[in-house]
Amino acid sequence: MTAELDAVVRARTDALAKAAAASTAGELAAVETEVLGRQSAIVELRRSLGRLEPEVRKAVGQAVNEAMGAIGDAVAARRRELDAADRAVRLEAERLDLTEFAPRRRRGHLHPFTAAWERLEDVFVGMGFEVAEGPEIETEWFNFGALNFPEGHPARESQDSLWVDWGAPGSTLLRTHTSPVQVRTMLAHEPPIYVVCPGRVFRQDTPDATHMPVFHQIEGLVIDRGISLGDLAGTLDSFVKAFFGGEFSSRLRPSYFPFTEPSAEFDVQRPDGSWLELGGCGMVHPNVLRAGGIDPEQWSGFAFGFGIDRFALTRHGVDDLREFWSGDSRFLSQF
Ligand code: DAH
Repeated sequence: MTAELDAVVRARTDALAKAAAASTAGELAAVETEVLGRQSAIVELRRSLGRLEPEVRKAVGQAVNEAMGAIGDAVAARRRELDAADRAVRLEAERLDLTEFAPRRRRGHLHPFTAAWERLEDVFVGMGFEVAEGPEIETEWFNFGALNFPEGHPARESQDSLWVDWGAPGSTLLRTHTSPVQVRTMLAHEPPIYVVCPGRVFRQDTPDATHMPVFHQIEGLVIDRGISLGDLAGTLDSFVKAFFGGEFSSRLRPSYFPFTEPSAEFDVQRPDGSWLELGGCGMVHPNVLRAGGIDPEQWSGFAFGFGIDRFALTRHGVDDLREFWSGDSRFLSQF
């Protein structure tokens, strides 16, 4: 009886040692077959139970059962350990270090044109104006006809329009200026009207340092009773002081636009005495008021239009407009 029990103890000790020594899941699977499989020592012993005397068989059978249970438990425990270790290794390998890019993260900011556009809006809103917008694809009537450009007038050609293949030939274009929004606003609202109309405009131009085929303008329109040229000059001067600062002043120079009479160019004087041309302005022509459904006998008004991009150019001391369109973040991130 001692010999059989010894054999069970040896099989059990040997199996437990092998299970503990397995260092991978594959090795452990092989060990399991070796120590619990059909040809394992312990299963051999169980098979031989039938040849033992009944009194011996009982004790040895019990020892075999206990040994098989212990070996099964040891293999399962080792499997859990190896799985946990595997998982730890995998997690470590797959770990994403989410802090890795933090020091290099950069915040975006508005494009200098957008910043200038928004600042202009803010200053005019602060002066009591509302903001209006109109479509970028316009009819010939809103872009020219309603603005008192006579049929076949060279001023139409001078704006180098980009025509759109839509409707009758010559009926539809990319707006060449924001002035059509004046007429749209008059048709949509009763006076008094105090609006600014920022937007994108298009002309057939070859890009160079000071011209782009796409640029931005802001239009102003005031319609009320008894509005005079003095109101125009005063409004623009207040705007200049609010936008650029108290050391800046402005002047009007006689000019010509079909939609204003009289018309003027509007310049700003910098503290160093130099002048910057900002755009055009004038008293709204009676024909334009009529096109907008407004009675010129009762109402009068003024209008102005500036290029927005030039504000950004001057503000940042950049001398080539094309830089702002490059989309090069090394350039744009400076501002
Ligand atoms: N629309 C003109 C242009 O694009 C600018 C302009 C001039 C607008 C005089 C005005 C104005 O409202 O009164 O060149």
